[in-house]
Amino acid sequence: MASSTKSFLSSIIFLLLLLLLQFHSSAGQTRRKGVYWFSGSEFPVANINSALFTHIFCAFADLNTNTNQVTISSSNAAKFSTFTQTVRQKNPNVKTMLSIGGGSSNPTNFASMASQPNSRKSFVDSSITLARNNGFDGLDLDWEYPSTPTEMNSFGTLLTEWRAAVVKESVSSGKPRLLLSAAVFRSSNYYGTPLPVSSISNSLDWINVMSYDFYGPGWSASSTAPPAALFGSGGQVNGNAGIREWIQSGMPANKIAIGFPFYGWAWRLVDQNKNGFYAPANGAATGAGISGGAISYRDIKTFIAANRVTPVYNATVVSNYVYSGTTWIGYDDKQSIAAKVSYANANGLWGYFGWQIAADDDSSTLSRTASTT
Ligand SMILES: *[C@@H]1O[C@H](CO)[C@@H](O)[C@H](O)[C@H]1NC(C)=O
Repeated sequence: MASSTKSFLSSIIFLLLLLLLQFHSSAGQTRRKGVYWFSGSEFPVANINSALFTHIFCAFADLNTNTNQVTISSSNAAKFSTFTQTVRQKNPNVKTMLSIGGGSSNPTNFASMASQPNSRKSFVDSSITLARNNGFDGLDLDWEYPSTPTEMNSFGTLLTEWRAAVVKESVSSGKPRLLLSAAVFRSSNYYGTPLPVSSISNSLDWINVMSYDFYGPGWSASSTAPPAALFGSGGQVNGNAGIREWIQSGMPANKIAIGFPFYGWAWRLVDQNKNGFYAPANGAATGAGISGGAISYRDIKTFIAANRVTPVYNATVVSNYVYSGTTWIGYDDKQSIAAKVSYANANGLWGYFGWQIAADDDSSTLSRTASTT
């Protein structure tokens, strides 16, 4: 073989190898692994197995409605100020996000703050100071939910100003820019009102899509249903439909985290012999570990052991359920979590997040399943 042919062939082989390597590294890119820690759970921060995560959200800082500043309550101050340092002990690379608001805070206060330039500035500036003073890597806004066209507009403006401010602060402090995320509705369309997707995608590093609480005994009392199905048919609410809507309206897939619940919803069956999805029900069940119909995965495991029952996994919709007597619980067990993480991987999503760490069991079964899928 002529030496020029040889060198030509070896260059080709070299190029192919390079391509293979590149393909391998992009295909094997680790998706981000997020979880919320909620101070109200009383779960010790030191017990978070942070090696199973890349991002941990510390929930929640509050909005002061008089000053429009973000504050940390005095009861949370000590835990929040050492949060990052504590979770870094088991994972020096984990990123921490200070999460603001939450489902039990009043959305009207966020709407009011976001409606005026001065109050937006109070929010933005105070949030940055709080994040820096407490050692967080970023900030997460959990306003549930901006709902009118005016509020959507304010939400977009707030995010744009927030991003500009963290960029500016990074230049002046010489520190890496604070990361920005938000927990958002399951779809980019809030019951007919579109979210400001271009401001969201230009301003935030990613969004936490709350792909759960589709059905529950408090608001769909008369029949059981998968509370956080990934897929659905016949008009059933499901996670995939919402994520498709986010992507179709312009949100890059790699800025979307799919959320899953570390808890289930418990209904009371009307007839214990009718016990599948969409079985007749009569509101929330009561019993050990059930509070307002909600039950943590930890307590579902206890329910399963105490009643010697076997959970059902439905791979078509991606949901588990388990029942005993007239108590019926829809939830995500290992199979559902694994299927959702595979979905995140296959669709090139940013990753996933779980709500919330205290509800996982003592062996971190769900967190571990997600982390190793
Ligand atoms: C899964 O749930 C769907 C929706 O209720 C149902 O149509 C389907 O038959 C179930 N699959 C299995 C294997 O039970």
